Amino acid sequence: MKRRLCPPTTCPPAGGASDRPIGVFDSGIGGLTVFDAISRRMPSENLVYFGDTAHVPYGTKSPEAVGRYSFEVARFLDRCGIKALVVACNTASAVALPRVRRGTRVPVIGVILPGAKSAVEASRSGSIGIIGTEATISSGAYTRVVTGLRPKARVVGIACPLFVPLVEEGWWDDAVTEAVARRYLAPMRLGGVDTLILGCTHYPLLKDVVARVMGKGVALIDSAEQTAVEICGLLRRMGLERTSGRGRHRFVVSDGPERFRRLAGRLIGKEVDVRCHRFDL
Ligand code: DGL
Repeated sequence: MKRRLCPPTTCPPAGGASDRPIGVFDSGIGGLTVFDAISRRMPSENLVYFGDTAHVPYGTKSPEAVGRYSFEVARFLDRCGIKALVVACNTASAVALPRVRRGTRVPVIGVILPGAKSAVEASRSGSIGIIGTEATISSGAYTRVVTGLRPKARVVGIACPLFVPLVEEGWWDDAVTEAVARRYLAPMRLGGVDTLILGCTHYPLLKDVVARVMGKGVALIDSAEQTAVEICGLLRRMGLERTSGRGRHRFVVSDGPERFRRLAGRLIGKEVDVRCHRFDL
């Protein structure tokens, strides 16, 4: 894969170390749930979001392909002068974190550990469910981290591939989505989990439907909030927090900026300016 240099228009200007942006990376639009949580918790931080829309979905691809794409995105963001990188994509966090780390010199946070930590804290019985893409579930990453934190946990994972296109279609709280959720989640309900990790960037947008299907006794874990807590703590420890002024937000995608702009407007409730950076494959 050949790379083009980061065009100056996508790179925030150099300033003090704390003025450098936090990079947030996802396969597409869904990572905006994490971006949104970070920008609400740290409104002064400059952020640059990269959606690899040329290669989405990652969830049906091989770990090798996801690793290759993720590495290129990490290198691109590194060249943009980021101070830390958040891999908002669960699939990339599950199968490609080591390769992302090789692509950048800055600290990297994925979403698996924050989500797993929240689930372990929330679960009374230790019976924890995980829903995610096929790649995330078959990687076993959440199961490994959850049982690492709580060895006696009983973990059940189910892939829900139709949820991603339903979210992108805007059917967040719709009868069709609910029927799909009932079918996917039936084994989870029978399994009696008391905590369910929404292990995909898109799923927090289906929280109402999933809550109805799973019933009141099940805590739903959205790793976005906990990831924002973790990146905030990391920057504080490194002395790199930006604490004054309003942060600048940049959005870059690898294809289809118009579609991204439309969906992003709906997802984060404001108009965004989106630039395109294509990778040559
Ligand atoms: N961002 C992906 C994730 O969180 C979902 C979409 C995709 O398959 O690329 O796993």
